[in-house]
Amino acid sequence: MTVVRLKVNFKTLEEFKQFKEYGLQELSMLEDLEANIVEDDSDSPFYGIYFGDKLVARMSLYQIQAKFDRYFYPPQDYLELWKLEVLPDYQGKGYGKELVEFAKSFGLPIKTNPRVKSNGFWEKMGFTSVEYEMDRDRGENPLVWYPEGVTPQEHLK
Ligand code: COA
Repeated sequence: MTVVRLKVNFKTLEEFKQFKEYGLQELSMLEDLEANIVEDDSDSPFYGIYFGDKLVARMSLYQIQAKFDRYFYPPQDYLELWKLEVLPDYQGKGYGKELVEFAKSFGLPIKTNPRVKSNGFWEKMGFTSVEYEMDRDRGENPLVWYPEGVTPQEHLK
């Protein structure tokens, strides 16, 4: 099982259509590619795992700058993990775990907004829920992962 950085090209964008969380981000990548705003085969924010030549799992990772950090102490750059998804026939085989471990390997704290019903998985991956009014107002229920030496910010304790 190898995690690879996905390239922006028509093949990848076609494969993304298999995933439930296909939306604005994917459509704008497609438009940018068609309009030559991004180069063919440039790096995307997505990482994935192939089974043969089929993309079966993916996630997107954004690095958020320390000055925007409202979660971690000391305030620092952290990763926002989005759109983790394993295709139905491939669930429960360790692909989700492999992607999360890859994200952890950067050594930065991680924040994610889990999809409904996946809380058991995130708990197993060592993520905990943070209660923060601003997130609740937006209908978010973020989960975070703290690497060693990192703790929640004071207002979250
Ligand atoms: N609840 C509790 N534990 C779960 C779980 C769940 N929904 N899904 C997986 N786990 C556990 C596995 O049993 C495994 O435990 P182990 O390490 O002790 O063997 C561990 O988490 C890793 O599981 P893995 O095989 O890597 O999970 P996955 O590849 O299926 O990825 C998701 C997990 C949630 C990302 C994936 O299933 C997915 O994209 N699902 C989409 C739909 C959805 O959100 N479903 C939630 C359940 S309805």
